[in-house]
Amino acid sequence: MADLKVKKVKDFSAELTVPGDKSISHRALLFAALSNGPCEITGFLASEDCLATMQALAAMGVEIENLGAGGTHIRVHGNRGDFQDPGKPIDCGNSGTTMRLLAGILATKPFEVTLTGDESLSKRPMNRVAIPLERMGARIKGQGDRCTPPLKILGKEKLKAIHYDSPVASAQVKSAILLAGLAAEGKTSVSEPNPSRDHTERMLNYLLVKNIREGKTVSIWGGQTPESRDIQIPGDISSAAFWIVAAAARKGARLMIHQVGLNPTRIGILNVMTRMGAKITERIDNSGCEPMGSVEVVGNGLVATEIGGAEIPTLIDEIPVLAVAAALAEGKTVIKDAQELRVKESDRISTVAENLRRMGVTVDEFADGMEITGGATLKGAEIHSLGDHRIAMAFAIAGLFAEGETLIKGVECIETSYPGFIRELEQLQAMSR
Ligand code: S3P
Repeated sequence: MADLKVKKVKDFSAELTVPGDKSISHRALLFAALSNGPCEITGFLASEDCLATMQALAAMGVEIENLGAGGTHIRVHGNRGDFQDPGKPIDCGNSGTTMRLLAGILATKPFEVTLTGDESLSKRPMNRVAIPLERMGARIKGQGDRCTPPLKILGKEKLKAIHYDSPVASAQVKSAILLAGLAAEGKTSVSEPNPSRDHTERMLNYLLVKNIREGKTVSIWGGQTPESRDIQIPGDISSAAFWIVAAAARKGARLMIHQVGLNPTRIGILNVMTRMGAKITERIDNSGCEPMGSVEVVGNGLVATEIGGAEIPTLIDEIPVLAVAAALAEGKTVIKDAQELRVKESDRISTVAENLRRMGVTVDEFADGMEITGGATLKGAEIHSLGDHRIAMAFAIAGLFAEGETLIKGVECIETSYPGFIRELEQLQAMSR
C-alpha cells in the first residue's frame, strides 16, 4: 500500500489545469462507440476508471486509437453499437459509472455478459439500474437484495419503452435508462427527485439524438444512432475542487484554473465556497458539447454554511473536500440529504467523519450527513483512504493546513480519477514552503 506524507504550507498560489472530466470521458467513449463513424476525443481522462470503460469497449470489438498526448487524445471508431460478445467477464474495476452505464447498453445486446468489479464496487447497489432495465425486458442477475456485482446481463435487441420514476437523483441511473431507451420502441422517460448532472443529455444533443427535458423528466426516442463528431472534454471540476478548497480556506491565497468544466449541474462547489466567504470569479470561454472556462479563487478565510436539498447532486463528489473546508471554517457546518454518500466508493459519511476526528475535529454523524464544528487547529494524523480516491485527496488538502505531518495510507486509488494529483501537490508544497 502506498502512503503519502503531507506537511503544512504557509501560503498557496497556483495557476493550473486539471485532467479531463471523468463523467464526460466515460460518456464520450460510450456515445462515440454507439455513433456511426470515427470520433476524435481530446482532453480524455486516461485514468483507471475511464480506462476500464475503454477496455470494456475494446473487448466488445470497438476500435480505439491512441493519438498521443499521454493517451488524452484518442479516436473511437463508432460502429452503431454493433458490439461483439466479449466471451469473458468485463472487469469494471472501481468504476460505478462504467458498470451502470454499460448495463444500460448491454441491456440492448442479445448476448450474456458478466460485469465484475473490485472489492469496493462489489459492495455497491446495482438494483437501482437492474430494476428499470428488467422492466424494459432485459434479464439481470446480481447478488442478494441490493443486486451487488458480479452482475450477469442478458439483453434483448428490442426493449420496451418505459417511464421510470427514479427514487434517487442519480445521473448513472438516468443515463443507463436513456442508453437502453436508444434501443427501445418509442419514448422512454425517466424522472428524478432533483436534477442530477446532465452530461448524457448534453452529449445526446451534441450528437444529434432527439431527447427532451420537461421539468424533472428526460425522454428519449428509440431507434436513433448518434452522429459521429469530435468531442472536446473540459478539465474535471471535481478534481479542481481540491485546489479550490486549498485556496479558498487561506486568506490571501490565489488560484487560477483554466479549461475546466463549468456545467451548471456540477458547480455546486463554487456556490458553496462563495457562501463560505471565498471570492470566486468564473468565466466561460467556450461551449462545445459542454461549457468550459476559467475559475479564479481568492482566499478570504471561511465561515460555516448549510448544504442540502437540491444542491447535493451538484456537488455530491465534492462533499469529502467540502467537509475539510467546513473543518477550517468558523462555526458549525451542516451537510444533510446526502445519504447517497453511504454507497459511494466508500461510505463517505463515516470515512470523512472518522478521518476528521483523527485530525482533532468534532463531527456528529447522521444517517444522511454530518455536522462539523470548524475553527479548531487541525492536527496531523494517520489517515485511511479505505481505497477511496476522493477521501485520499480531500485529506491530502487537510494536511496542508494541519500542525505536524499527515500520513495518508493507501493513495494508489488516486489513479482512478486524478493521475498527476500527487505531483501537483508536491510542486505546490515545494513552492509554498
Ligand atoms: C456520475 C454520477 C454520480 C457521481 C459519480 C459519477 C456519473 O453518481 O457520484 O462519481 O458519471 O454519472 P450518481 O449518479 O450515482 O449520483
